[in-house]
Amino acid sequence: MAEKLVYGKISSKESMELEEKYGAHNYHPLPVVIAKGEGAFVWDPEGKKYYDFLSAYSAVNQGHCHPKIINALIEQAKELTLTSRAFFNNKLGDFEKYITEYFGYEKVLAMNSGAEAVETAMKLSRKWGYKVKGIPENEAILIFAHGNFHGRTIAIISASDDPDSYGGYGPYVPGIEVIDYNSPEALQKVLEEKGDKVAAFIVEPIQGEAGVFVPDEGYLKKCYDLCKAHNVLFVSDEVQTGIARTGRLIASMYDNVRPDILILGKALSGGVLPVSAVLADDYIMLTIKPGEHGSTFGGFPLACAVAKAALQVVKEENLVERAFELGNYFREQLATIKSPRLTKIRGRGLLNAIIVEPKGNVEAWDVCVMLKEKGLLCKPTHRHIIRFAPPLVITKDELDDCIRIIKSVFAELDTQ
Ligand SMILES: Cc1ncc(COP(=O)(O)O)c(C=O)c1O
Repeated sequence: MAEKLVYGKISSKESMELEEKYGAHNYHPLPVVIAKGEGAFVWDPEGKKYYDFLSAYSAVNQGHCHPKIINALIEQAKELTLTSRAFFNNKLGDFEKYITEYFGYEKVLAMNSGAEAVETAMKLSRKWGYKVKGIPENEAILIFAHGNFHGRTIAIISASDDPDSYGGYGPYVPGIEVIDYNSPEALQKVLEEKGDKVAAFIVEPIQGEAGVFVPDEGYLKKCYDLCKAHNVLFVSDEVQTGIARTGRLIASMYDNVRPDILILGKALSGGVLPVSAVLADDYIMLTIKPGEHGSTFGGFPLACAVAKAALQVVKEENLVERAFELGNYFREQLATIKSPRLTKIRGRGLLNAIIVEPKGNVEAWDVCVMLKEKGLLCKPTHRHIIRFAPPLVITKDELDDCIRIIKSVFAELDTQ
């Protein structure tokens, strides 16, 4: 007899079959179906409860269905959702004031997905390069780092060195150079050779998708200084690391760097709507004129109301401090696991990863399946890395429970 459903009308099995049959096969999800979320928890249709240890790739920093954010969504949805930018609306300006003061910039350009915000930053950098720096038309160079992940558009994957991302999608966008990550020397070399044509260096302060790769202390500052010396914009992609995730409001703060262009997404809406933003000062932002860039939904009233509430929650609930303290505690606890299968722990705040030594045919994926069976959901990135990134509202007791689950899985692996 079919298992009784607690949430919704479609079982886990049916949901997976429907996706398989009718959806594009562009993802490889863990075999679990989520029907409800609250705080750090999610439930499947049959009512099994799990810790969410991925937070939709750091979009749900404020926890699932945060009441304040959901309330802002409902109240705004009753009034006005979308106007397009053909007209003014009474939410955008208020949000723009709030977010620019929050992060300390003169202007913001709101978009929807993270990739769109990165595209915006690429276009803005080129525009600045031509209009302000004086790079000859169509010769601007954008520098990226090896191992990057900035999204999925053609321009962005033109900077990717991951064959899964770029393979089969050529021809690629020119004017892009890729250098080693965590190497100020590599940046110095390319700037010395071609600095007069370089518009921007676009970098993740911690490479999330690469497996939470944390660069050496001082790396960002050295790169920032090199950019300044060569009149190049330092652009920080904080779509994953920003908004409290790493124990700072933005991860660039670890090196006391204020990026010339700051890119935000994901947690900007607490995972409620796709809202992204590019922040910069006037001398950069005002190089884009009316009609030269935009999106029908970019900065729509519903997004503005939701994003303002999501940023307020970060402040009101001290999520920066929570992520910092809980992150330190979490890594300390992980370090007590003495298993030959756990070879490295790294991260900042509550953006962490472990490296799992494959044994036989047991890889990171299989470890994630074991964790799922015990009620903790996470996802491998590459074959040997597992990212641990719970919502920042997780309590210490809940985190202790998660640590217990992780320990028990490694204990089990050690007996195999
Ligand atoms: C650093 C970074 N930039 C950009 C993106 C793209 O964001 P989106 O998936 O919303 O397009 C991601 C997504 O994981 C990311 O981690």
